[in-house]
Amino acid sequence: MNAIATIAPAVDIAPLRGFVTSFAELLSGTRDEQAVLDSGHALLQRLVSRDDWLPAAYAKPSAERYQQYLLHCDSRERFSVVSFVWGPGQSTPVHDHRVWGLVGVLRGSERVEQFERDGAGRLRRRGEAEILEAGSVDSFSPRTGDIHRVSNALADQASISIHVYGANIGAVERATYAEDGTEKPFISGYANTTLPNLWDRSRK
Ligand SMILES: [Fe+2]
Repeated sequence: MNAIATIAPAVDIAPLRGFVTSFAELLSGTRDEQAVLDSGHALLQRLVSRDDWLPAAYAKPSAERYQQYLLHCDSRERFSVVSFVWGPGQSTPVHDHRVWGLVGVLRGSERVEQFERDGAGRLRRRGEAEILEAGSVDSFSPRTGDIHRVSNALADQASISIHVYGANIGAVERATYAEDGTEKPFISGYANTTLPNLWDRSRK
C-alpha cells in the first residue's frame, strides 16, 4: 500500500494563526465583553470568508455524533477556538455555555434555536429558529441568554462551524437541559488529542 496516498494534502494554516494572534491582541486591549464580541465578530467573519485553511483531520464528521475539535486554546485560557462538525441531520442537546461565544459557519448551513426559562422554570423557545449560512457569524452571551440547540440544517451533507469562546470551553462546567428545564451537569471535552500546528512558519 502506498502510505503517501492516505495523507491528506497540507493546507496553509496561516489564516487560523492570524486569527488567534489577532484575538489574543484584542483581549490584551480590552476585557469589555461587548467590545470583544463586536471586534471578534469582524475577525471571525474574515476567517470564515474563506474555506481553504482547516486541516482535514479537524473537518471529519463521525456517524455517531457531532464532533468538537479544539483548534487552539489561549495559554491563559482567555479564549478557545473549536471546529464543530455535524454529520447530516446531527444536533447538539439543548445546552448553555456560561461564557461569551462567537459562531461562524465555514461550510454548509446550521440551525440555531434559542431557549429561555418561563415563569414556571420550564424551557421555551425564544423566537424563530435561525438558519446560518456559510460565511455568517453569530454571537451570544450569558448576559442576554446563552441556552440554545444547534443542528446541521442540511440532511445530506456535513456542516462545519468555527466557534470562539471566552474560556477553555471543553473544561467549563455547564449544563444540558431537559424540556422541563431540568439541568444536567456537562463538561464537553474535545474529540481530538492533538492540535493543528499553527507555528511552523517555514512554508512561507
Ligand atoms: Fe453552543
